[in-house]
Amino acid sequence: MMLGMLTVGRSCGAARTALRSLHTVYQTAELPETHRMLRETCRDFAEKELQPIAAKLDREHLYPREQVLKMGQMGLMAVEVPEEFGGAGLDYLAYSIGVEEISRGCASTGVIMSVNNSLYLGPVLKYGTEEQKRHWITPFSSGEKVGCFALSEPGNGSDAGAASTVARLEGEEWVLNGTKSWITNAWDASAVVVFATTDKALKHKGISAFLVEMPTPGLSLGKKEDKLGIRASSTANLIFEDCRIPRHNLLGQPGMGFKIAMQTLDSGRIGIASQALGIAQAALDCAVDYSEKRIAFGASISKLQAIQFKLADMALALESARLLTWRAAMLKDNRKPYTKEAAMAKLAASEAATQISHQAIQVLGGMGYVTEMPAERHYRDARITEIYEGTSEIQRLVIANQLLKEYRS
Ligand code: CAA
Repeated sequence: MMLGMLTVGRSCGAARTALRSLHTVYQTAELPETHRMLRETCRDFAEKELQPIAAKLDREHLYPREQVLKMGQMGLMAVEVPEEFGGAGLDYLAYSIGVEEISRGCASTGVIMSVNNSLYLGPVLKYGTEEQKRHWITPFSSGEKVGCFALSEPGNGSDAGAASTVARLEGEEWVLNGTKSWITNAWDASAVVVFATTDKALKHKGISAFLVEMPTPGLSLGKKEDKLGIRASSTANLIFEDCRIPRHNLLGQPGMGFKIAMQTLDSGRIGIASQALGIAQAALDCAVDYSEKRIAFGASISKLQAIQFKLADMALALESARLLTWRAAMLKDNRKPYTKEAAMAKLAASEAATQISHQAIQVLGGMGYVTEMPAERHYRDARITEIYEGTSEIQRLVIANQLLKEYRS
């Protein structure tokens, strides 16, 4: 498996060149060979290693340590990270495909992968010094350690600029105080990118980003949240009480924190869109399979138009959202602006996942409502994709703001 991924990584140079043109996928209506191979590898892994245990992980709130380690060996925990820091050195389209396939097998594992790749490693790779990259990236590429991202607070989630967590410089140390909430991976993480105000008078321009080891004296974990879905990934508060970290743990320049957070979320939203695609695909798989096997009125229910129309609408919503997601990833790979497209992808994919998993239950009827079948889990897992990394309302705001900017310029 590992060999398979590394081969994909080495031969990715050619694929990257092919992807220089935004039109590659549209012209050939096919993914490049390297990306198809990656998809097959991830699909195979998800079917063999995740799908069979996903219900148990969900029921018992179990972190999939062994599977995350294997994913690290495959390069999936650091898809975009260059090989010199232990990553796969692939592009963002490859990352999107990987997250989708992993989430198709287990949505919790999908978000663990997404947060480590996009929200933790992403900003360190972009803003870290060489020394920071060596320290804060390499161990997080292997799956042995995972990172998390702390922006939201109990008093502000959508209004990210209103951070009340503070950091003050005392000699050679920053001292952090405040509470961060809804932190994915919190209980399993070994480091966090945290945002805190270093100059309140400057509002969002006074927010800075920091790297903090976990555990660290002065940093404690809140209770593990008991959630509707993605129950195998941990979510908790991080409480900073006179938490002292070295001065050189500042990420980027003082006051750059808000920009770092916004840019990180732009790419993170492609990851969540991909997770939503995986959940939606799993729900559709389940609905199609059941409709072929279930006999009613003397034939399989897949012969009924009432069911066929549902399946058609589900497939349409899924494929449309997938194209938006791949386009956002390709824009990022081609260093083009992608804020609006990432928000569109997340909005479309998360709403598609909610709608498709809802309809999947309808196709299954009573069997969709019990834990014997995975449909109810897909329905529960889908819901969060409309909330974290920016609610659907925030995505509409981002899209409208970018759209108006384009019209006015
Ligand atoms: N890229 C770069 N810069 C950006 C940017 C972007 N995408 N978006 C905004 N900015 C910049 C603006 O250019 C502006 O810069 P200047 O001050 O230099 O002019 C500055 O940031 C402020 O911009 P706005 O006035 O637009 O900011 P705002 O306060 O109105 O907020 C917002 C905009 C879109 C609502 C933003 O606050 C936001 O995205 N909120 C949602 C936050 C979110 O997604 N939270 C999820 C947390 S992570 C999570 O879910 C947990 C997890 O573990 C999975």
